Amino acid sequence: MSIERTKIKDLIEHGELNAKVLIKGWVRTFRSNRFIQINDGSTINNIQAVVDFEKFDETELRRITTGACLQIEGKLTESMGKGQRVEIQTERFEILGDSHPDEYPLQPKKHSMEFLRTIAHLRPRTNTFGAVLRIRHALSFAIHKYFNDKGFVYLHTPIITGSDCEGAGEMFRVTTLDPVKPPLTKDGKVNYSEDFFGRETNLTVSGQLEGELGAMALSDIYTFGPTFRAENSNTPRHLAEFWMIEPEMAFYDLKDNMDLAEDFLKNIVRYILENSAHDIDFLTKMYDQDLKHTLEFVINNDFARITYTEAIAILEKSGQKFEYPVSWGVDLQTEHERYLVEKHFRRPVILIDYPKDIKAFYMKQNDDGKTVGAMDVLFPRIGEIIGGSQREENFEKLVNRIKELNLKKEDFWWYLDTRRFGSAPHSGFGLGLERMLLFITGMSNIRDVIPFPRTPKNAEF
Ligand code: 4AD
Ligand code: MG
Repeated sequence: MSIERTKIKDLIEHGELNAKVLIKGWVRTFRSNRFIQINDGSTINNIQAVVDFEKFDETELRRITTGACLQIEGKLTESMGKGQRVEIQTERFEILGDSHPDEYPLQPKKHSMEFLRTIAHLRPRTNTFGAVLRIRHALSFAIHKYFNDKGFVYLHTPIITGSDCEGAGEMFRVTTLDPVKPPLTKDGKVNYSEDFFGRETNLTVSGQLEGELGAMALSDIYTFGPTFRAENSNTPRHLAEFWMIEPEMAFYDLKDNMDLAEDFLKNIVRYILENSAHDIDFLTKMYDQDLKHTLEFVINNDFARITYTEAIAILEKSGQKFEYPVSWGVDLQTEHERYLVEKHFRRPVILIDYPKDIKAFYMKQNDDGKTVGAMDVLFPRIGEIIGGSQREENFEKLVNRIKELNLKKEDFWWYLDTRRFGSAPHSGFGLGLERMLLFITGMSNIRDVIPFPRTPKNAEF
């Protein structure tokens, strides 16, 4: 009877010595015709299988090449090698998939991140991407766990929408109309009433508006899904398709919102330190000696909390030369955010009460008539990681703002209904999953924390 396959992680961590084992995985290296390093993605660590080459057919041995897929049966024994508890004494092996050694793009050496982006279909087989993708999974799980434990309901908001939540107009159109000869109205515009949904539709930039509808019934909800922005920003922090987590809470004011955001961020970082230790250790060793320390620092220190107005004063007094000059009313750039976090406060910062003119229509209008109850959380190395606010719950004030910004009130009738029927103070925020991953993994480009990045001029894989 054949034995069952074991994942390499299980063997390394608690495989019984002298047990007969069967593993399957991809060859990382094959040295001296004797030592196969093999990995199945269950852990950053490879397991070593020792081959006594005299026992095997030479043509079969020659098929053990970097990248080939193998199944190996043998005895688990204590390893004499450094840094590994166990190894396998190979008794039988079978090639499941050959890999041409000269053509396989991943050689056993360190490739540049730029090169690996050109082979996004294979890069999950590298140590770095294995670690990043396992952490991405663990982080997603930690996020669901956090909200589930707090009694939040996971609300699936639509991906195809007819409204522009952030009002920035950076949307990808969804249409089935003929691209060459679309039906036209009398005044020569595209006639969307003939389109699939009978109206103009786009990929969503945020699930917030629908999230608010959920919060006005279920009290505490969160969304966790892909969002899309057609902004032409080719930066290490922007993707055209990214994943966002958006909790929305009835009866929360801005202070409650800040408290939740801080507790949430600390909690998920702690989860990763506790549950992805090997991967974090690997990334710390390879990319950033301070990584683990930075993560621990965030958990153990209060975030600074200041108003936008105070932040501007600090930046103006800093004596620092910024590429974008600072004055009250400007939108903060990453350089300003990073100055506040890394140089001035030396810890994460929550900035509140931004000028209303640089924020979205739905934010709660403050009594000063100039600012809104916005809240951005700024992190070291990243800048903005969370954007959120208390929401304007007053019907008239909200309608006035929509008109001031020349948005179409009719587009938002269903959203406005929540302010007509049982309106309540409420708040929420959005965390960019990939921005959080940049922070946690120490990677420096957002293209390297998502399996298949979508950026301007790039959607190959
Ligand atoms: O600040 P933003 O635009 O806020 C919203 O969309 C609100 N509706 C959220 C809410 O209150 N429910 O985006 C939220 C976060 C940012 O702080 C950033 O982390 C991330 O989403 N983000 C991006 N991440 C990657 N690529 C982009 N192009 C991003 N744009 C925003
Ligand atoms: Mg923002």
